[in-house]
Amino acid sequence: MSVLEGSVKTGKVYVETYGCQMNEYDSGIVTSLMQGAQFETVSNPEDSDVIFLNTCAIRENAHAKIYGRLQSLGYLKKRNPSLVIGVLGCMAQNLGEDLFHQELPLDLVVGPDNYRTLPDLISRIRNGEKSVSLTRLSKIETYDEIEPRVVNGVQAFVTIMRGCNNFCTFCVVPYTRGRERSRDPLSIVRETRDLVSQGIKQLTLLGQNVNSYSHEGTDFAGLTRMLLEETEIERIRFTSPHPKDFPLHLLELMAENPRFCPNIHLPLQSGNTKVLSDMKRSYSREEFLEVAKRIRSYVPDVGLTTDIIVGFPGETEEEYEDTLETVRSVGFDMAFMFKYSEREGTVAQRRLPDDVPEEVKSERLTKLVDLQTAISLERNRARIGKTFPILVEGLSKKSVEEACGRTPCGRMTVFPIPKEGEASSWIGRTVPVEILSATSATLRGRILA
Ligand code: 5AD
Ligand code: SF4
Repeated sequence: MSVLEGSVKTGKVYVETYGCQMNEYDSGIVTSLMQGAQFETVSNPEDSDVIFLNTCAIRENAHAKIYGRLQSLGYLKKRNPSLVIGVLGCMAQNLGEDLFHQELPLDLVVGPDNYRTLPDLISRIRNGEKSVSLTRLSKIETYDEIEPRVVNGVQAFVTIMRGCNNFCTFCVVPYTRGRERSRDPLSIVRETRDLVSQGIKQLTLLGQNVNSYSHEGTDFAGLTRMLLEETEIERIRFTSPHPKDFPLHLLELMAENPRFCPNIHLPLQSGNTKVLSDMKRSYSREEFLEVAKRIRSYVPDVGLTTDIIVGFPGETEEEYEDTLETVRSVGFDMAFMFKYSEREGTVAQRRLPDDVPEEVKSERLTKLVDLQTAISLERNRARIGKTFPILVEGLSKKSVEEACGRTPCGRMTVFPIPKEGEASSWIGRTVPVEILSATSATLRGRILA
């Protein structure tokens, strides 16, 4: 036991995060809860007596990574038998107690709605209980008053809603994160003000399906307007909306308010209407194209990005070609592209055989990635000669004489900074940057005096 800042510490906790931004945010909540229970946080697992892996379940390789990581932590457990190792997050919720049957160095399995109980569960283990798990989904838990401890830099995430009610047939999220719940807008405003006072300039609002945000009459556009009016946050981004029922007043707000970044991540998943219907996405190819067109007509400079799955059960070559055609026709700035991965408990796993051979999935993915890379390059090249206000997020990974930040439309941009003074003093400033060259992933430019 160590004594820190005058209070007796009950342990040292190390948290490692996998998966999406929502998990990053949740790890902040876990850290905050543990600190509240007098745990000190450490940045090296070797120094800890509690290790949490906050996990993802979205594709099989996410699970595989955690099995590997747990095995590699086994030596610490051998060295210190009282070390507590816990799996949190979506994989914990998805596999529950089954995780204990695999001879892994593991004491604790806790789902995303049960983090408040972590300090108690650790006490139970320390009192001799073995294989403790809690994976009860909640209809109300939103961790409203818990402020995550993650402030570093100028960018932060805030989860505005938890869970998902869509049940897309491929997706495990509704089973791992439960039903949709929206946070009280007042608590989001409070948290945003707090972040601003700690130097945060850019906020990304997170939800599985932000256009279903709803809290006592406040919808997502209402919440965003409130944050713009009632806080000093410089830039707001969000992820992700669902292409069905994309709200027009959100586009109007984006078009009229430069602090609301023209950057929309709109998951397509497939460009074929039959596949979309088997995925239960509730829009057709034509409807998606219509939404994309409407977005561009309201917000011409918008950065549009997407998620796409290839090799969904039953996907024929022609149906896959429709995805390529849709990708060509929309012209996304960037896409996350995946091979279909069958997930335990989903409708697709129960009803639709995973019948597209692995080699075909790989071929389809490669061809799609090649196409999207060419489109990203073309769209980035069209930005050469233009000037964008860039919020400097950090120094470039390759050189401290270069800084990086995003255009309002979301493109990563790298540019040299003047040599005089501290390079880090540029972080957090917004500077006009003229774009001089482009690759498919990055823009390069110079600061205009
Ligand atoms: N297989 C492959 N990709 C998936 N995604 C979600 N579930 C699966 C799955 N079973 C992708 C979707 C989603 C993104 C977060 O992950 O494209 O939008
Ligand atoms: Fe999964 Fe669909 Fe919900 Fe996104 S909207 S989390 S893909 S079920």
